[in-house]
Amino acid sequence: MTTPAILRHLRLPLIGSPLFIISTPDLVIAQCKAGVVGSFPALNAREKDGQSLDAWLTRITEELDRHNQANPDSPAAPYAVNQIVHKSNTRLERDIETCARHGVPLWITSLGAQTWVNDAAHSCGGIVLHDVINNRFAKKAIEKGADGLIAVAAGAGGHAGALSPLALVQEIRSWFDGPLYLSGAIATGDSLLAALAMGADGGYAGSAFIATEEANAVEAYKNMIVENGADDIVYSDLFTGVWGNYLKPSIAAAGLDPDALERSDPSRMSFAEDREKPKSWKEIWGSGQGIGAVHDVVSTAALVERLKGEFDAARARLTRQLDQG
Ligand SMILES: Cc1cc2nc3c(=O)[nH]c(=O)nc-3n(C[C@H](O)[C@H](O)[C@H](O)COP(=O)(O)O)c2cc1C
Repeated sequence: MTTPAILRHLRLPLIGSPLFIISTPDLVIAQCKAGVVGSFPALNAREKDGQSLDAWLTRITEELDRHNQANPDSPAAPYAVNQIVHKSNTRLERDIETCARHGVPLWITSLGAQTWVNDAAHSCGGIVLHDVINNRFAKKAIEKGADGLIAVAAGAGGHAGALSPLALVQEIRSWFDGPLYLSGAIATGDSLLAALAMGADGGYAGSAFIATEEANAVEAYKNMIVENGADDIVYSDLFTGVWGNYLKPSIAAAGLDPDALERSDPSRMSFAEDREKPKSWKEIWGSGQGIGAVHDVVSTAALVERLKGEFDAARARLTRQLDQG
């Protein structure tokens, strides 16, 4: 197994995953400074709200450079940009060009795996991780030139797979020894260590970061992450046309019955910047099943500190257990 050089020696082998609307430079910079990879979807720099991807990348690079100069012994982790490779994403070519010009070190691609996107990332020295929900898509992504994979297993927030993480990692590791990160309900250092034990290079966690001070989410959403657990998550394709996990109380608050949701289909999927959703769906909130471990809204640094403490304790406990075994 070969973890790419830029992903070695992080404080924790963890990628803070890209979160639609929620991940902005404030969160990404805080994640990277805390020693885990921070990431955001390029589409979050919403041009119609006066945001620019170019300005976001300049700010992130400059702040991380300043941090690294001031803290040569604890440099920031690299950052990543997520590209939604789908025909409805009309900004894709422009966003790819902007990322290549800024030399984005880590590229996370979702939905379609495409050779030209991988070529653009490689042209600036970047590494591409493609997210997949099954082994078939994993093979396709590597054939198209991705460097590594994110295995999105059952229980992940947002668009999630339905396979057990154990099965998914096992199938991918039977033919692939490159970079592999596991996504789905990782919200403790213990589960992060479990991802490594299964054969992944690291974890990929999103929902736990929603309940941080730097996340771009309303207080009610952060509190709902804190107050709920795995039983309060429902898997549905109604809201985007793709299967994903959502907080039941947010669905109920929008006037729908979370236990009797209608079905949808992939033709409803759109990533156009001006897409309009039914008003009630704007407050349907995504979350994975791991949030039972989230008890407070804290700073990103404090969350990473908790994960690091748990990871180290779990590692020591496991070593003792195996030694006694
Ligand atoms: C609210 C929300 C928004 C998300 N938005 C995106 C996105 O824009 N792009 C993407 O690739 N993944 C997105 N995801 C999926 C995450 O990147 C990741 O796979 C997931 O959060 C991992 O599972 P966890 O939330 O249980 O940690 C989103 C997840 C959530 C909860």
